Amino acid sequence: MGNSMGSKRGPEDREGAGYSMHPAEKLTLTDGCRHYEGKHEVPWDIQKYFAQRYSIFSWYDEGVYLTDDAWFGVIPEPVANQIAIDISAADERKTILIDSFAGAGGNTIAFALSERWQRVIAIERDASTLACAQHNAEIYGVHPSMITWIHGDSFEYLDALANRPGELHPDLRVDMDTTVLFSSPPWGGPGYRSDEVFDLHTMQPYNLEQLHKAYKSMDHVLFLPRTSNIRQVAKLAPAGCKIEVVQYCMQGASKAMAAYVPARKPISREGKPGEEPHVEDPMSADSDSSPSIEKSTAPTNGSGSSKS
Ligand SMILES: C[S@@+](CC[C@H](N)C(=O)[O-])C[C@H]1O[C@@H](n2cnc3c(N)ncnc32)[C@H](O)[C@@H]1O
Repeated sequence: MGNSMGSKRGPEDREGAGYSMHPAEKLTLTDGCRHYEGKHEVPWDIQKYFAQRYSIFSWYDEGVYLTDDAWFGVIPEPVANQIAIDISAADERKTILIDSFAGAGGNTIAFALSERWQRVIAIERDASTLACAQHNAEIYGVHPSMITWIHGDSFEYLDALANRPGELHPDLRVDMDTTVLFSSPPWGGPGYRSDEVFDLHTMQPYNLEQLHKAYKSMDHVLFLPRTSNIRQVAKLAPAGCKIEVVQYCMQGASKAMAAYVPARKPISREGKPGEEPHVEDPMSADSDSSPSIEKSTAPTNGSGSSKS
């Protein structure tokens, strides 16, 4: 398979073919990629995360690399593993997983090691962060053919996949009906840490509306702050479908929530495939009714999940 690290095809072949996006080569670790050995080397604002390094990557000492920014967003390994287990329950016809914000590889590695997917497509727009993710996947023993890395903007990729697949390198053209997308976007914006209920319309740089627009035709999982407004999430449910929301906990405290959102199928009022359904705008003004969230509970343990 020539679509990932270790590809024998040179970049000139791809550029020559005129594709707008192609699989990334193995990138070299840059000065921005660091493996800190001791606290004395670590910038003060990362020291809290460095202290938790073995929860984040249990194989940290094997030579895991991160950029300084990646420490803030990387998903701790027990949570990443639990998500990989939960997402594995997807319909067995789903064979491809897209990780739209790969970061330093926390989730991508867990998905690749789960052996559930024929292939994982992992997208990261920052070259240094992508180099760390590729390196970390090697450290964790992921077979190079499992992950197809893309160095670029995941919204551009998804737009091309849906509307102009011929622009993509053949290895990046996947059937959206047999694909599940996982999205762990940055959580910037006012209030994510302080608000009792986080308004997902204010999340930056990508708010819920932008994420939904990009993902709605695929089954997808949104990894969101634990206090996210669940009514806003409920409005994403396609007619007649429910969204499952899971709180992911470590040592009894929730780290984040994930919303498992079914694809919005293009079926018309008359039931003809291929036409957009008549559906209420999910982003219209909030109301008090949120009938589309599956409510159930599961026992939590040191690194468990709890459905809410
Ligand atoms: C919260 S982190 C992802 C963490 C990742 N799940 C992990 O465990 O390491 C978000 C990442 O998305 C990247 N990013 C932001 N916007 C992007 C875009 N439009 N396309 C691809 N990557 C993007 C950022 O550079 C950052 O590394």
